Amino acid sequence: MRPSLLPTLLLPLTTSLALPSPRIKCPIIFDGRVSPNLTLSSFDSNSTSPFNPQYVKGENLTWSSILLLPSSLPPSRFDIAQNSTSKPFEVTINDASLFRSYQGLQTGFRRAGLQFRDDKNVEGADAADRGVVTFHWSVRQDEARGMNLSHEYMNVWHERADYAGNQFTFVGGVVLRQDGGDGVDSEGARRRWTVQGAGNGVVWQTVILEGVWQNFGIRLDYGESTLQVLYSIDDEPLKEQTAAVRNNNTGGGQLQLGMAKKPTETETVVWDGYQEHIVDREGQIYGGVFVEDSSGGCVSL
Ligand SMILES: *[C@@H]1O[C@H](CO)[C@@H](O)[C@H](O)[C@H]1NC(C)=O
Ligand SMILES: *[C@@H]1O[C@H](CO)[C@@H](O)[C@H](O)[C@H]1NC(C)=O
Ligand SMILES: *[C@@H]1O[C@H](CO)[C@@H](O)[C@H](O)[C@H]1NC(C)=O
Ligand SMILES: *[C@@H]1O[C@H](CO)[C@@H](O)[C@H](O)[C@H]1NC(C)=O
Ligand SMILES: *[C@@H]1O[C@H](CO)[C@@H](O)[C@H](O)[C@H]1NC(C)=O
Ligand SMILES: *[C@@H]1O[C@H](CO)[C@@H](O)[C@H](O)[C@H]1NC(C)=O
Repeated sequence: MRPSLLPTLLLPLTTSLALPSPRIKCPIIFDGRVSPNLTLSSFDSNSTSPFNPQYVKGENLTWSSILLLPSSLPPSRFDIAQNSTSKPFEVTINDASLFRSYQGLQTGFRRAGLQFRDDKNVEGADAADRGVVTFHWSVRQDEARGMNLSHEYMNVWHERADYAGNQFTFVGGVVLRQDGGDGVDSEGARRRWTVQGAGNGVVWQTVILEGVWQNFGIRLDYGESTLQVLYSIDDEPLKEQTAAVRNNNTGGGQLQLGMAKKPTETETVVWDGYQEHIVDREGQIYGGVFVEDSSGGCVSL
């Protein structure tokens, strides 16, 4: 079972922090690139964070205590802007990363997931839920805070407004049987990113790499009911990795991006199972996060 969330509050639209980038060719719907002047405390306030400061995180935790701003990394491909460079950020989890839903504390997960401040959980309420849209993000591994990939990590997903499924899911590690994998721990399964479509079918996989940026794009065509995967490493332009495959993109909803570590030896995924003690924190580094309007065939590569 995929994690379900509380409906989020609707926040007012505010001005974009957009930095002009020679590589971003299409109108930006949601911009999660982090301006150079943002500090950790910027993520605790609606007026300065590109993301919703309330969700989806351990109860009692603030985003300023969850995020890190690694300072010595090269910028990811879409963080390079015309006169300035937006910066990477790292989402971390530890034993306190327990989210309380209306049903109770979700003790099966360790999770911290960012949602765009203006991404509404109402079907059809925002431009990322209609037309043709490409979701962009880059990831990089923190060797000092690596994931334990014997577990399944949901890192990026677009969850339907009714919380009953996702249009797509980007997961790392051994995918649980309940989530469409086989749950079998092996070296190959641990080293893998998997893109799943609606219904959790595997659309595409690649190896989790260390010491480089891995850049992903997921293009959803709502009219044609298709999904297409784009991918590149470091500063290479994105390349199409699949055809536009049929996918059920209905249901609206929100993008979530961060870390949702699933338990092993679990029945319900949400409420039971095994989680080892996390020494310090586990983290996932992100950059170049934005959603663009790909109508008319526009896509930033
Ligand atoms: C960062 O700079 C942008 C662009 O100059 C500005 O709009 C924004 O208010 C600044 N944010 C903070 C937290 O200082
Ligand atoms: C952000 O806005 C929401 C909705 O208006 C409000 O409930 C919340 O307290 C605000 N949070 C912060 C950190 O300002
Ligand atoms: C959050 O704080 C409250 C009040 O101290 C406490 O009862 C609760 O257990 C805390 N939640 C977690 C996940 O530690
Ligand atoms: C950005 O850089 C371009 C070319 O280097 C320059 O013409 C322009 O004035 C700069 N814009 C700002 C806002 O600094
Ligand atoms: C990684 O997860 C597996 C499965 O829960 C567990 O058996 C193992 O002890 C964990 N490894 C570390 C280093 O915590
Ligand atoms: C797409 O998914 C929705 C929600 O589960 C379902 O109601 C609808 O029948 C599905 N459409 C198709 C063509 O399978």
